Amino acid sequence: MTQSPENQIINLRQAINRYNTDYYTLDDPAITDAEYDRKIRQLRQLEADNPEFFSVDSPTQKVGGTVLNAFTKVKHEIPMLSLGNVYSAEEFDEFVTRLKNRLDTEDDFQFCMEPKLDGLAISLIYEGGHLVTAATRGDGAMGEDVTHNVKTIKNIPLILKGENIPEKIEIRGEVVMPLADFNTYNKAAQKKGQKVFANPRNAAAGSLRQLDSKITATRPLAFYCYGIGLIENGKLTASHYQRLMQLKAWGLPLSEEIEIHSSAQECMLYYQSMLQKRDQLPYEIDGVVYKVDAIKLQDALGFISRAPRWATAHKFPAQEEQAQLLNVEFQVGRTGAITPVAILEPVFVGGVTVSRASLHNKDEIERLGLKIGDTVVIRRAADVIPQITRRLAKKNQKLIQIVFPIRCPVCKSELEQIEDEATIRCSAGLFCGAQRKQAIQYFSSRKAMNIDGLGEKIVDLLVAEGLINTAVDLYTLKTEQLVDLERMGIKKAENLINALSKSKQTTFAKFLLALGIREVGEATAKSLTEHFLTLGRLKQADLESLQEVNDVGEVVAKHIHTFFRKTHNLDVINALLKVGIQWPAIESKQHTLPLATKTYVLTGSLVQMKRNEAKAALESLGAKVSGSVSAKTDCVVAGESAGSKLGKAEKLGIPVINEDELLDLLEDEGLRVKG
Ligand code: IVH
Repeated sequence: MTQSPENQIINLRQAINRYNTDYYTLDDPAITDAEYDRKIRQLRQLEADNPEFFSVDSPTQKVGGTVLNAFTKVKHEIPMLSLGNVYSAEEFDEFVTRLKNRLDTEDDFQFCMEPKLDGLAISLIYEGGHLVTAATRGDGAMGEDVTHNVKTIKNIPLILKGENIPEKIEIRGEVVMPLADFNTYNKAAQKKGQKVFANPRNAAAGSLRQLDSKITATRPLAFYCYGIGLIENGKLTASHYQRLMQLKAWGLPLSEEIEIHSSAQECMLYYQSMLQKRDQLPYEIDGVVYKVDAIKLQDALGFISRAPRWATAHKFPAQEEQAQLLNVEFQVGRTGAITPVAILEPVFVGGVTVSRASLHNKDEIERLGLKIGDTVVIRRAADVIPQITRRLAKKNQKLIQIVFPIRCPVCKSELEQIEDEATIRCSAGLFCGAQRKQAIQYFSSRKAMNIDGLGEKIVDLLVAEGLINTAVDLYTLKTEQLVDLERMGIKKAENLINALSKSKQTTFAKFLLALGIREVGEATAKSLTEHFLTLGRLKQADLESLQEVNDVGEVVAKHIHTFFRKTHNLDVINALLKVGIQWPAIESKQHTLPLATKTYVLTGSLVQMKRNEAKAALESLGAKVSGSVSAKTDCVVAGESAGSKLGKAEKLGIPVINEDELLDLLEDEGLRVKG
């Protein structure tokens, strides 16, 4: 049954008042900003449609929360107000029309455009150029004295410098925790098992409202000003933009994104460009603010309830939304890591619909204190994978404990956890179907062996049909085995066989990457191959020499070292080389290849490998392979029924080796095995 408008209004007012206390007074929001905005809009609409229920006490008529007792109260001589919002170009046009009607003009306005910083509003009072008081916004009329804390913020000048500074001036702006600092702070806090902040705004608010300013001093906060409150005994220019520039000249920090434009059309362009820039800015912004630039017009327009008529915020799509946690699934990754994945009630956030989010590991579930049925906050900054940042406290819900499995959900093998590592892994390695499939997918991927047409689905199918077990098996596939597979057919089957054959000509770095050694990504694979030049040298490298390579620290060195000490890995490598995978020599200025400057000649027929394979292998070690024997030849490889070239070599006293000796040489360099 739907409630009467009166009841809806009463209930919404009560709920919003509670949310305000959580947000402003306790720094612990119970809902996301997006959800809060929707509730406020809904209430405002209901109040507009039912004016008989108007109340000065409604949260739509007020700013912020109440003041905590722990801080001394400060009265704002000029109230610190809020901003109205527009959410679209149409709503912005309506805003401009309202301005024109009110001023009874057809003229275009100059607008000062500013980023809407997502932090905490602060008022700074300077007397005689000295910072004397700093206060939070509080309920707009009364704030909290946070002078001691604010004095620890590095970019806030304690003394203004320059000319014409009014006797008393109030600067208003936002305290934020810059994004890079926020991430570093949270990572460190998490490592130490301390409380992490849900978002940069919470971090700024929590840090500023510390009773001990020594704590605030350790927090990386920054301030950006956006306006002026009170002025005594001083004169400023008649343009808001010029005033901000004056503040900058006195040494106050100003965002670099502030612009002035002479028409309303440019506001939308500014919005778009800031939306694109959003992720590259040093601080988080949740929209832009348009302000009529002429102070005379601002004064003429005045205020309405809790916000100026002459300014409005244009909000960006929310990066945080709330949704219910419906279930948790456990995935097995390529290296066996068991990752809990949150299954969510679908929610539109940061420009996409999210219905799953990684929970990373068991510790993360514990840190968040999650249970199935909880309402959680999903945060998705553009192009970043969605994260669950916190659970919202809700009472009277049926919650179900999340149970981490004790066996691999795919192969039922035992799970293991290495000391000091958060990750829990399936111990079965390539015996685990999930790991096997992903290892093959990774092997064939574009950045590795680049096998065209071998996507996730086909790999799944090939493994399910028992046609392949390892990456090596790919190279023994025949067209006839493929044609009858689901959605395959002759053309696709032939293409795949061709792609497999083509993939055999690769680079050392891609081959190394394809092996899927833990934590050896593209850049590390490249550095390793450029350093060691040959597979043989890399295979034999000890922990110390591995760490000489760029980006290779103790942990990665250990992974590489261990990988090459496991017989089944070496067997796979040998088998891959045997099917004909090869790569050209790597040129390096710092290191020489084992056969650099040597000239080889191949003669007679080889039995265990093709002549062009032998040629490519020798070349990958730096040798030049020539067609004729001369005094410059360093070595002749004589296969069966070698003829005149062998004779000539013997005459010139040039060393001659047979095919077995060639294979030994290649094997020593990690390239080819006998048999
Ligand atoms: S002007 C009377 N400019 O947004 C005008 N506010 O939603 C009031 N904010 O309390 C503020 N960036 O904490 C203004 N460039 C900006 C802003 C900004 C962030 C915050 C500020 C204010 C809230 C209103």
